[in-house]
Amino acid sequence: MSTGDTRPVGTPPPVRYPRRAVILHWIVALLVIALLASGWTMVDIPRNTPERAFFFNLHKSLGIVGALFMGALIVWRLRHDAPPLPTTMPKWERRAAVLNHHLFYVLMVLMTAAGYLTSSFSKYGPKLFGIPLPHWGWEDAALRGDFATVHRILALVFAALIALHIAAALKHLLWDRDGVFQRMMPGAKMKVP
Ligand code: HEM
Repeated sequence: MSTGDTRPVGTPPPVRYPRRAVILHWIVALLVIALLASGWTMVDIPRNTPERAFFFNLHKSLGIVGALFMGALIVWRLRHDAPPLPTTMPKWERRAAVLNHHLFYVLMVLMTAAGYLTSSFSKYGPKLFGIPLPHWGWEDAALRGDFATVHRILALVFAALIALHIAAALKHLLWDRDGVFQRMMPGAKMKVP
């Protein structure tokens, strides 16, 4: 695959993420999009219907599976530095990108914890494909509602940051053409740190 690199001659070549990080990034990205879509779909389904139960169980299960992959991605990132962004990017853009990526990791942890706590204080409880998981609470409608509100607000923040992340990635691909987009693409031929 071409790097689409049109930076001035003499600029050091962009460095890509290693394959393990690329695979984890795309699995987590697909799961988070599926979680946002299933979450917003299920809350509008009428109560006490099989469809609502199906989507809630699917959402909780995807959330648990997602937690495993998010955990693996966070562990990878704690053990490795991200490849440096090109110095052709303005400093504020590099800072904004790093801040956005760090907020993603924080949101992954907070969203999972808030979702698990919402389930833990409801009579239905957290489940993985129908298998009940440990409750972190007891049946309490007020606490369930509080954690659901936190979960809902964080979902909106997460979706806004994802939209910004995608817009920035497309700017690198179509406008800057500096190879930053390809750093996270499977198969791109680039230097690995
Ligand atoms: C990154 C992970 C997650 C994302 C992005 C996510 C996303 C969402 C979204 C968008 C909603 C709908 C919010 C609304 O507008 O009302 C929702 C609701 C919900 N989620 Fe998650 N979720 C995640 C993890 C989890 C986990 C791990 C669980 C439990 C095991 C869970 C349980 C729930 C429950 C019970 C609701 C319904 C809340 C209510 O009754 O209003 N979520 N989630």
